Amino acid sequence: MWTIYQHHKGMHYLALGKGLHSESMEPHTIYLALYDNPRGGLWVRPSGMFLDNGGPRGSKRFTALARLRTLSFNEADSVLPFGFDAWGEGRSLPDFVKSYATNKNHLRGQRFVLETLEGATLATVNTLRFAPEITGLAWLSTHPEHRKQGHATLLMHSVMALFRHEQPNMSFVLHSEIGIRFFERFGFEKAPVECQHFEKSVAMIAEADNGPSDFESVLSEFF
Ligand SMILES: CC(C)(COP(=O)(O)OP(=O)(O)OC[C@H]1O[C@@H](n2cnc3c(N)ncnc32)[C@H](O)[C@@H]1OP(=O)(O)O)[C@@H](O)C(=O)NCCC(=O)NCCS
Repeated sequence: MWTIYQHHKGMHYLALGKGLHSESMEPHTIYLALYDNPRGGLWVRPSGMFLDNGGPRGSKRFTALARLRTLSFNEADSVLPFGFDAWGEGRSLPDFVKSYATNKNHLRGQRFVLETLEGATLATVNTLRFAPEITGLAWLSTHPEHRKQGHATLLMHSVMALFRHEQPNMSFVLHSEIGIRFFERFGFEKAPVECQHFEKSVAMIAEADNGPSDFESVLSEFF
């Protein structure tokens, strides 16, 4: 589980953990920028300073906003209803949830959720590691009562930053029915025409510098 913070200047960061300074043994917080910072993505700061009131007029330097965590397979049923309005296709909610039990991408994916600090789930996305440097993102959905507050945006930035922290050349693929505009903020572009297999949903790619190029076979395996 990771905590997401907002710096007093507005930018978001995900705390990866703590480490000790090798000489002074002072605890330091290690944190990842959730935006494209040309100076670098990974930062370290003495933990006392991370948590102090170094913001304007004695306000907090970093404010904890939300938590990110992976979801165990048994918990998935609790977040599947978030996408019911978009993907229900006239089914009842129980039938819709049941339909995932045989969905191969659902079964092999690793879901992430964004939660409040108190543990209420806000948004979810599934991740599918198709290749060491290609991850599929699927079923992005926000609890209907918590939409338009930036939760899906924060979740996408967090998950993509975490995967790129682990693998800097990571590219992402996804299919979506809501068009490309929302996904452009994460660096997605429409995939080439040979990757487009569906009328209603658009295949998109967020390609890393020096990333792989064989997206067509991955996308046909995805759907
Ligand atoms: C799409 C969805 C995940 C957005 O979640 P959210 O937490 O409200 O998103 P954010 O607050 O971070 O961003 C809001 C933006 O989402 C985009 N958006 C939301 N619904 C959209 C839709 N049906 N079509 C196009 N864009 C949409 C808009 O750009 C919106 O920007 P705005 O605030 O300027 O209007 C949410 O509406 C949802 O769960 N929908 C049902 C599932 C779905 O359609 N998922 C699509 C991805 S596969």
